[in-house]
Amino acid sequence: MGEKLVVVNFKTYEEAHGLSAENLARIMNDLETSARIVAVVSAFDLSPVVNVAPNIEVWTQHLDPIQFGSNTGFLHPDTAIERGATGTLINHAEHKVSIEHIAMLLDQVPENFTVCACAADIEEAKALTALKPTYVAVEPPELIGGDISVTTADPNIVSGTADAVREISADVGILCGAGVKNGYDVSMALDLGTSGVLLASGVTKSSNPLESLNDLISKI
Ligand code: G3P
Repeated sequence: MGEKLVVVNFKTYEEAHGLSAENLARIMNDLETSARIVAVVSAFDLSPVVNVAPNIEVWTQHLDPIQFGSNTGFLHPDTAIERGATGTLINHAEHKVSIEHIAMLLDQVPENFTVCACAADIEEAKALTALKPTYVAVEPPELIGGDISVTTADPNIVSGTADAVREISADVGILCGAGVKNGYDVSMALDLGTSGVLLASGVTKSSNPLESLNDLISKI
């Protein structure tokens, strides 16, 4: 888990959907960095973003562990993979699912498909780590979308999650998010024992996304 990640969740921000998603992904695609840059997009935007941003990873925001057949409105992992997704978030604070949902999804996807399971706190991070996702991302819900990075507001939850995850499994990576905005926040996240950050508004709501992204990767 030596690689560093900057994962940008496009959510359903107006500035990061449809054509705007493609434009933001193009900017991310051209960044010069050793970090893994990931765009987490709406299922609708998956194919177009994959097509315009071949240098970055594109993940989906959610998947359902369903089989082919009668499942109207659900998101089948194989469809996401066929359309170019290399990973997914699951159990985001804004889209919680059951532990069984996550376990079944992990059983269903191929081993090289990245699954980043989100946790609200250290206890949830421990429970998720036992399922062996690729990453566990700790994001205190009350700090999501705010101006203070979790690394400043609550560094102990980040280092505590890193320690707890490592105690259970050396194979599960750790990310943190909520309020992350700049390179300083990213370097704090790395110092606190993570492999990188999961963020949204710091990029999607930025008046200059290129500048914000360059700042975010500046200390990696
Ligand atoms: O998925 C990332 C997200 O929940 C954090 O959002 O806006 O606080 O960076 P934000």
